[in-house]
Amino acid sequence: MDFVSTEDGSLTLRHAQTGEHYHNRAGAYTEALLCYVNPSGALKRLKRTRYLHLIDACFGLGYNSFVLLAEAIEQKLEGRVVIDAIDNDPNLVNALPTVLSFEKFKELGKIFELQKQVVTGPLSLIVRLHHSSLPQQLVRLREDNPNAEVDLVFHDPFSPNRMPELWTFEIFSLYKQLLRPDNGAVLTYSLATAVKGGFIQSGFSVGRTPKVGAKAGGTIAYLGGNSDCDFDFTELPADELASLKTHSAIPYRDPELQLDRLAILKRRTIEQEQFKNISQSQFTRQLPESI
Ligand SMILES: C[S@@+](CC[C@H](N)C(=O)[O-])C[C@H]1O[C@@H](n2cnc3c(N)ncnc32)[C@H](O)[C@@H]1O
Repeated sequence: MDFVSTEDGSLTLRHAQTGEHYHNRAGAYTEALLCYVNPSGALKRLKRTRYLHLIDACFGLGYNSFVLLAEAIEQKLEGRVVIDAIDNDPNLVNALPTVLSFEKFKELGKIFELQKQVVTGPLSLIVRLHHSSLPQQLVRLREDNPNAEVDLVFHDPFSPNRMPELWTFEIFSLYKQLLRPDNGAVLTYSLATAVKGGFIQSGFSVGRTPKVGAKAGGTIAYLGGNSDCDFDFTELPADELASLKTHSAIPYRDPELQLDRLAILKRRTIEQEQFKNISQSQFTRQLPESI
């Protein structure tokens, strides 16, 4: 495996097929902390409720989960953390010892074992890693736990244009069914309008999470309000709100969870054309006859 060093000293990989790095160059640890763990308020929630159930969607090298656990250990938090981690690449487990050798994971690295409940001081934790494709595994999780009340989802696939099948309205709807309706949330690095549009159509409210390195920030999609003030986000700026009313907000769709990339992109293009035609005909109807 070809590890690449990032600016905070933590290591990442370059994906052979897509050419994308697994993380922002500002740092794998930094990205996980600033884009996922901090804005999600996961540590505040664990402190308050002493329990946290997370879905780590596209677990990869595990940074998003590991940073959450390392920070919880560092802050000596009490309680139980359950993580359902999903990734379809079984080879990545071979990279985990190298990832965990990073200095900030020193304490976690001493006790961590996948699929096993481990206890460190007042904290017990388990990472159940599911080697399967994200949509199918989400269906399975929902079938196995019809009353699931997941606190948070960290959604971290490769980019929407490269893997639209992992950014669909249907996946976001599955999240909605799995999450706590009063304060569940999905965090992701993407700011794409199609992604925000998909979350909104699935019943989420959306906001922007803080900037990381050269990236303008990410998206939080949340249910209920933010009455516990767990989430750290700002309202979307006016230009993003305006773009959500255009064809750009049409989400990727895959009703049977089986389409490939090209079929999903084509379907969206057709829906965008239909949207533009309808908007155009509504506009023409509103014009005074003298024009
Ligand atoms: C950007 S990387 C994830 C980085 C990861 N969160 C981390 O902290 O290291 C994207 C991941 O998506 C996984 N992936 C690609 N297609 C998938 C699929 N259909 N279902 C689940 N995971 C998938 C890849 O194996 C890769 O690990």
